[in-house]
Amino acid sequence: MRVAPAATAFAASLAVLIAGLARAPSAEEVAPRNLPPDQFAFLKTCSSCHPPFDPRTLKRSEWRPVATQMHQRASDRAIDVPPEQLEAAIRWLEANGR
Ligand code: HEC
Repeated sequence: MRVAPAATAFAASLAVLIAGLARAPSAEEVAPRNLPPDQFAFLKTCSSCHPPFDPRTLKRSEWRPVATQMHQRASDRAIDVPPEQLEAAIRWLEANGR
């Protein structure tokens, strides 16, 4: 991924640091229940460790590998994300990426 890697990494570390200091809000807190299901799945899947990234940060084709990596990261931390929830999140990222 070629979007200013240093800046992205810095922003991500900062986000993770902040999320660690103040407990990351749950999807139910950040997302109204009436969101489209795929968008809700994205917020639920991708905002537990850091604030959710703007989907336009990456190209559509770049989201699957990143999301898969994040899913692995979650598994390593014993955070269980059902495969269909991950797929819905990826669908939303691919629909809304650059
Ligand atoms: C288990 C915790 C966890 C979950 C869940 C998680 N992430 Fe991350 N994410 C991280 C950490 C930690 C980083 C810090 C950067 C690094 O080490 O790569 C990060 C960084 C990122 C970055 C910055 C670019 C990069 O690769 O460093 C993006 C984009 C990202 N996450 C997207 C997502 C998406 C999309 C999801 C949902 C599918 C998600 N994350 C779910 C932990 C998580």
